[in-house]
Amino acid sequence: MKDNSKKRILTGDTPTGRLHIGHYVGALENRIELQNTYETYILLANVHAYASNFKEPDKINDSVYNVFLDNLAVGLDPKVATIFLESGIPEIYELYTLFLTMVTNSRLVRNPTVKDEIKYKKLDPSVAFISYPILQAADILAFNADLVPVGEDQLPVIEQTREIARTFNATYGETFVIPEAKIGRVARLVGTDGKLKMSKSGGNAILLSDDEETLKKKVMSIYTDPDRIHPTDPGKVEGNPVFIYHDAFNPDKVEVQDLKDRYQKGTVGDIEVKQKLFIALNNFLMPIREKRKYYEDRPEEAKEILIEGTKRARKTVQEVMKKVRERVKINDLIT
Ligand code: TRP
Repeated sequence: MKDNSKKRILTGDTPTGRLHIGHYVGALENRIELQNTYETYILLANVHAYASNFKEPDKINDSVYNVFLDNLAVGLDPKVATIFLESGIPEIYELYTLFLTMVTNSRLVRNPTVKDEIKYKKLDPSVAFISYPILQAADILAFNADLVPVGEDQLPVIEQTREIARTFNATYGETFVIPEAKIGRVARLVGTDGKLKMSKSGGNAILLSDDEETLKKKVMSIYTDPDRIHPTDPGKVEGNPVFIYHDAFNPDKVEVQDLKDRYQKGTVGDIEVKQKLFIALNNFLMPIREKRKYYEDRPEEAKEILIEGTKRARKTVQEVMKKVRERVKINDLIT
């Protein structure tokens, strides 16, 4: 039974590579903060990954494992939160199939998140890709989740999930909670190249698993104010990636303010601003790297966490699905 004293969180990532610092401020931080307050389920959405890349299962598995380690590394506690593999819960496919009947094609192709992704990645999308919001609705509603911490780009998908839940409830009777989305402290983190969004595929990401040397190289080559040629030129702080990162990751607010003041006056060079950012980011990543290494060195322990988590998650889903089948009357003739 659902533990009535605690509300539920379901969220996760499509494994398309390792997670980056944009994921951290956009979504991961909320997971960590809320894991003790909510009954928390973290999904490794490998079925979603097949929807855009069915030809490379080994690559998907590699990504799944890395995203799994990233989640542990940032501080999700496997004793508190349940981390699980989507495909280990076949009931999700079942719910997905039922939900496919409730969404019109025209509604589906209007989803702005899906439209943007198709444009951005220049895809000729598979049916599964266009339908991924429906699979995501199945992920969320299979747990009867109350809250879904996600990045800002996912809001239209959560809206569609709410629509599906309402349609189901209106048709078959109250079954699903209407889930709420929760976005992170920084909705959309800029890329190191100054592009609007940090992304795994864009080659402009600082990964949570970057080592010190890689981090240094990336930080020193961050795009800054293009109009500033000399350190004595007054520079622009607003919208400048290097300061956006300082604001997001440097806990020393006095130092950040001082750097901003001097940047605007033309009394500090890019190099010093970047060096200080490197120190702040490196301090932030150090414990994350350490925890990642702990699990990298103990693959058996990590695997056990995933197996146990998937079992636990499946139990929760089976309770919800029992009710769903009854409501839809789908198996009435054989039960
Ligand atoms: N589509 C999400 C993303 O790309 C990942 C995801 C899959 C997800 N299923 C989910 C997120 C369920 C929240 C809830 O980031």
